[in-house]
Amino acid sequence: MKTLRVNIPGYEYDIVIGKGVLHHAADYFENKKKPAKILLVTDENVAPLYAETVEKSLSSVSQVKTVVLPAGETTKSMDYLKRLYDEAFDFGMTRSDFVVALGGGVIGDLTGFFASTLLRGVGILQIPTTLLSQVDSSVGGKTAIDVPQGKNLVGTFYQPKQVLIDTDTLNSLSDKEFFGGLAEVIKYGVIWDKNLFEMLEKAPARKDIMARIEDIVYTCCDIKRQVVEQDEHDTGLRMILNFGHTAGHIVEKAYDYTGYVHGEAVAFGMVVAARMGEKMGITVPGTADRIRALISNVSLPTDIPVEEEQLLGVALDKKASGSSISVILAEEIGSCKTVKIPVSEFCEMCKAVWNA
Ligand code: GLY
Repeated sequence: MKTLRVNIPGYEYDIVIGKGVLHHAADYFENKKKPAKILLVTDENVAPLYAETVEKSLSSVSQVKTVVLPAGETTKSMDYLKRLYDEAFDFGMTRSDFVVALGGGVIGDLTGFFASTLLRGVGILQIPTTLLSQVDSSVGGKTAIDVPQGKNLVGTFYQPKQVLIDTDTLNSLSDKEFFGGLAEVIKYGVIWDKNLFEMLEKAPARKDIMARIEDIVYTCCDIKRQVVEQDEHDTGLRMILNFGHTAGHIVEKAYDYTGYVHGEAVAFGMVVAARMGEKMGITVPGTADRIRALISNVSLPTDIPVEEEQLLGVALDKKASGSSISVILAEEIGSCKTVKIPVSEFCEMCKAVWNA
């Protein structure tokens, strides 16, 4: 078991990473005042696999009520947020009670937002069960729901009291989910850690990755920790975590958020970003091909066609501010920088390199 301490001004918490740590969900409350009630939020896919283990542990410190929501992005909505408020008030929760999110990014984001607003904020433990949520969304305190106007448009920055990562839960993921999450791992390699990238290049099979998964998850969480400690509110450095996400977002939107999972879109988005960087003379030549080769070796898509009008639609993306857009470009594997360019230039460049 490994522990990482996150130190954000005003908030300190641990990320605990290990095999089988789900059985120790209640350990957070050791030597602390116990909450009278804990609301455990999970989904229909995760509940049959892990809810009982977590309930059993939490029941040793508190009364537990479990809410099982449908699995899938549509759960990250106002309707299910309201359902959680109703469940919490029916349960008689007070400000000293706790919420636990057990699941992937949808459950983590929704439950985080719910916890941040319930009674003006109750404590939350994040227990992420997908690779994507273990290396990215559960860490750093971004919470959100989707609204008809767009994804993640209503949310808060609200740090959890602890993130508990049981890497054994990754064994139950499909290859599509596992490698989708791996796209974010590859991202950390490109923007920050050359050794991580090269390690994946040398041994990209799922069994090789699982053989060193605790170290990999730890490395990614440690990078994210360093980034959010410097820029909790996403006004500067934290933007580098969006490497590959602008083009990835074009893909997700073009395919109506159903054709490709987030990680698949981001994987191809990283190839596009690297090609753009090479074209601008910022990225070392050959970097895009290297990223493409790795994502191909881990069964992530290397070519995703989209209509020209979808490329131009980026002007409406929430990341576009005024007539400029901040794009994250790799300098070489292991380092990156943010460059502001006119949206029109971004769109032209996207068109030029998309199908290169
Ligand atoms: N997922 C990107 C961030 O947390 O900033």
